[in-house]
Amino acid sequence: MTFASYPALRLRRTRYTAWSRALHAETRIAPSDFIWPLFVMEGRGIEEPVATLPGVSRWSVDGIVARGREAAALGIPCIALFPYTPAGLRTEDGREALNPDNLMCRATRALKDAVPDIGVLTDVALDPYTSHGQDGLIDAAGNVLNDETMAVLADQALVLAAAGADIIAPSDMMDGRVGAIRQVLEGAGHANVQIMAYSAKYASAFYGPFRDAVGSRGLLKGNKRGYQMDHANSDEALREVALDLAEGADSVMVKPGLPYLDIIRRVKDEFRVPVFAYQVSGEYAMIEAAAAVGAGDRDALVLETLTALKRAGCAGVLTYHAAHAARLVGG
Ligand code: PBG
Repeated sequence: MTFASYPALRLRRTRYTAWSRALHAETRIAPSDFIWPLFVMEGRGIEEPVATLPGVSRWSVDGIVARGREAAALGIPCIALFPYTPAGLRTEDGREALNPDNLMCRATRALKDAVPDIGVLTDVALDPYTSHGQDGLIDAAGNVLNDETMAVLADQALVLAAAGADIIAPSDMMDGRVGAIRQVLEGAGHANVQIMAYSAKYASAFYGPFRDAVGSRGLLKGNKRGYQMDHANSDEALREVALDLAEGADSVMVKPGLPYLDIIRRVKDEFRVPVFAYQVSGEYAMIEAAAAVGAGDRDALVLETLTALKRAGCAGVLTYHAAHAARLVGG
């Protein structure tokens, strides 16, 4: 018997042509996979570019509404809001977070009025409101107090839900806060307001441009390693997810995205729940920096990274490239 002089299987066969590649693609991204994070500021008719996030701006509420209409037209289902709180309203205890007429609440109401069919996700944490840039209340030594913070975050969630938020997304990493938020939401008649927990949120060097965007970078004393996760750990992410689900989270998030694909996959395999990734500001900035010096093609980098996140197990991705990516992939 003679052996054939050709490979038993030619995996290249299905790759040669575009139609065949399209036919065999396992993962596809669509505008419906994206959540678009937007930064809201005071004023009218204002667009203020964020230097470390080229192509991303802070918008006054009217601009946020315009972005909401743009998202709807592009088929992006959800917007995530973050506030640029005026300096004079930042305090040690971050009490502006509880003002039912703060920037977040006004932007949420305006969005829900103008584009009711778009979901509004609101971040829950105190860092955009504190004079020290930490996510919670601090003691004299600067440590973030867990239980005291949790109670304030529950109140913050209530204020946002009352303004019309569809998804409450606690990004603070306090222990027990998902349960506390679920309890106050149920108690106040917001049974259908979702919780997307930032469950596996790492203390990351990729958040720098975001802190510029919300104006907390220069204020932040110390770091957030006493509550955000150590990037060396993976089992701990599963414990965080298990807790948040037990406390009533509807979906969970892994953050940042691309350096944590292994975590996304482990969470998806272990829990079979909707997992979201936050492709964070530093990841966005990295792509833009590469494109700016000709080290990579922006569109290709955007499509490849977003597809990789989805392939790893994501139901969707928070990305500053949402509108651009939606235009690239179409409806
Ligand atoms: C605040 C918060 C941060 C991000 C989302 N919510 C920053 C931080 O924890 O310091 C980062 C998002 C990004 O970098 O794009 N709790």
